[in-house]
Amino acid sequence: MASLAIEVNGMRFKNPFLLGSGPPGTNGKVIKRSFSLGWGGIVCKTISLDNSKVVNVAPRYGKLHARGHKDEVIGFQNIELISDRPFATWLEELADIKREYPDHMLIASVMEEYRRDAWHEIIERTQATGIDGIELNLSCPHGLPERKMGAAMGQDPQIVEEVCGWVKEVAKVPVWAKMTPNITDPAVPAMAAMRGGADGISAINTILCIVGVNLETLRPMPTVEGYTEPGGYSGQAVRPIALRQVMQIARACPKATISGMGGIETAEDAAQFLLLGSHTVQVCTGAMLQGYEMIEGLCNGLSSFMDRRGFASVRDLVGKSLPYFDTHAGLVARQAEAKREHAGRSDRDAHTWKGDIARETKTLFTE
Ligand SMILES: Cc1cc2nc3c(=O)[nH]c(=O)nc-3n(C[C@H](O)[C@H](O)[C@H](O)COP(=O)(O)O)c2cc1C
Repeated sequence: MASLAIEVNGMRFKNPFLLGSGPPGTNGKVIKRSFSLGWGGIVCKTISLDNSKVVNVAPRYGKLHARGHKDEVIGFQNIELISDRPFATWLEELADIKREYPDHMLIASVMEEYRRDAWHEIIERTQATGIDGIELNLSCPHGLPERKMGAAMGQDPQIVEEVCGWVKEVAKVPVWAKMTPNITDPAVPAMAAMRGGADGISAINTILCIVGVNLETLRPMPTVEGYTEPGGYSGQAVRPIALRQVMQIARACPKATISGMGGIETAEDAAQFLLLGSHTVQVCTGAMLQGYEMIEGLCNGLSSFMDRRGFASVRDLVGKSLPYFDTHAGLVARQAEAKREHAGRSDRDAHTWKGDIARETKTLFTE
């Protein structure tokens, strides 16, 4: 039977499934519950030194439902900030979780202002709790960029490199830099993070969005006192974009370990992230919608997939599909070559581009 265990940057995960930073890791009590149910690790809700500056609003979530299927949420918007709980409380809880669950990987997500001393302080005090790793939130798309934090840092490769450098001056545990997808080429800041000394890359954070406009009130959602701001989009709708960004980062940064996320809800979703270069995967919105218990299905499903396809360990899957990308010119050349090879085939079997498009769209646009 396939082994789901994987060692990444010296951290030993029982399985590659982590809960992503957000509501699933909002305090020590729920983090312990997730470990008791079998999650391989968790990235806690992002913490900062001064919680008094973090002021959340309500409502702060908006859902996009599948057409005609009110029960199915395909996209999820949030305008939630990082944790508004005191740093000192977090330090106590992180230490307590590690005492009770020494074998589950606990990663602290941290965010600070653009000051070397602030990053030194948050890393030194957080790692003193015994946590296994640190994730740098350089990617929160809403609210915090107004304070030059989060995505405001992650969108500037020079700052990414500098901040990762500051962190590595004092970090004694592995450091993953979490990337923003709200940028043209995610490989650019990811390479900067690696130059700064990061051990790995987490991707993606949420994609800036407006989930919809209420046609009765004419107000965009989620509506706070009649107004809103663009928020972060997550859930299954973002998965194809996340897969593309993970692939780009994996190809550009072959030395980086990658923790991939964005719309993972099933073992099959997770396997695709692994095949495109992720070493672990994170689930945030999926767990908010389905509950922590989904871990059982994720582990069983990945195990069956690996057994069926003959993969003995998770590492064997990592990046297996990466070689199968090419430029458009490369695809044209490959197709021309294939056509030459098949030149002898009968007309009935021959592939025509009209036939391909008809099969893909179920509509004969080309007639
Ligand atoms: C309500 C909510 C709150 C989040 N808060 C954080 C956060 O505090 N820090 C962070 O790095 N990412 C945060 N995220 C982003 C997720 O960790 C993840 O990167 C993103 O949602 C994509 O994964 P998913 O589709 O599995 O949710 C949050 C996401 C949601 C939905």
